[in-house]
Amino acid sequence: MLIRDEQPGEAAAIHALVRDAFDGPDEADLINRLRAAGDAIVSFVAEEDGEIVGHILLSPIAAAFPALALAPLAVGPDRRAHGIGGELVRHAIGHAGAMGWRAIFVLGDPAYYQRFGFSAEAAAGFASPYAGPHLMVLPLGGALPATQGTLRHAPAFAELG
Ligand SMILES: CC(C)(COP(=O)(O)OP(=O)(O)OC[C@H]1O[C@@H](n2cnc3c(N)ncnc32)[C@H](O)[C@@H]1OP(=O)(O)O)[C@@H](O)C(=O)NCCC(=O)NCCS
Repeated sequence: MLIRDEQPGEAAAIHALVRDAFDGPDEADLINRLRAAGDAIVSFVAEEDGEIVGHILLSPIAAAFPALALAPLAVGPDRRAHGIGGELVRHAIGHAGAMGWRAIFVLGDPAYYQRFGFSAEAAAGFASPYAGPHLMVLPLGGALPATQGTLRHAPAFAELG
């Protein structure tokens, strides 16, 4: 399995994969909006035998320090539980840290994201329309520069149903 940057011309294949993974187009459409707005800071695909089997996207989130939002993460329904999702998340974390970002926020299942170090407790002080037990944060490059403040996802998220 290879993890690499999305290449030009792969938008349709990524859309199909993410639509299948989520059983609907909302998250796949979100990717298209984020890309069109220039907010796809990281867009990695997992490739196996020339086929895109997974995808992860990081977009900027307004906070009191440089931070990214992880969303969406998708692995093809027939390729799950082989570590592809984990590899994509770890790859994205490593890349974001190397680029100097100080945190990644994610909205998801704590049972999945805790294994990478994401914490809902650490995110509890942040105000967001998505605040709650599913909002988590992973500090990068040391402790979080601030433990509270208001988060604003990229505008493309506002259209997510
Ligand atoms: C979540 C997802 C990306 C995981 O991809 P994957 O390649 O199967 O993940 P990995 O192989 O790295 O990890 C599999 C492990 O995660 C667990 N897992 C998968 N989805 C989970 C979830 N929603 N909640 C809790 N655990 C989950 C599996 O049970 C497995 O556990 P194990 O390691 O103890 O056996 C994939 O299931 C998917 O695309 N789901 C639909 C889209 C989605 O929900 N994306 C996340 C939105 S934030």
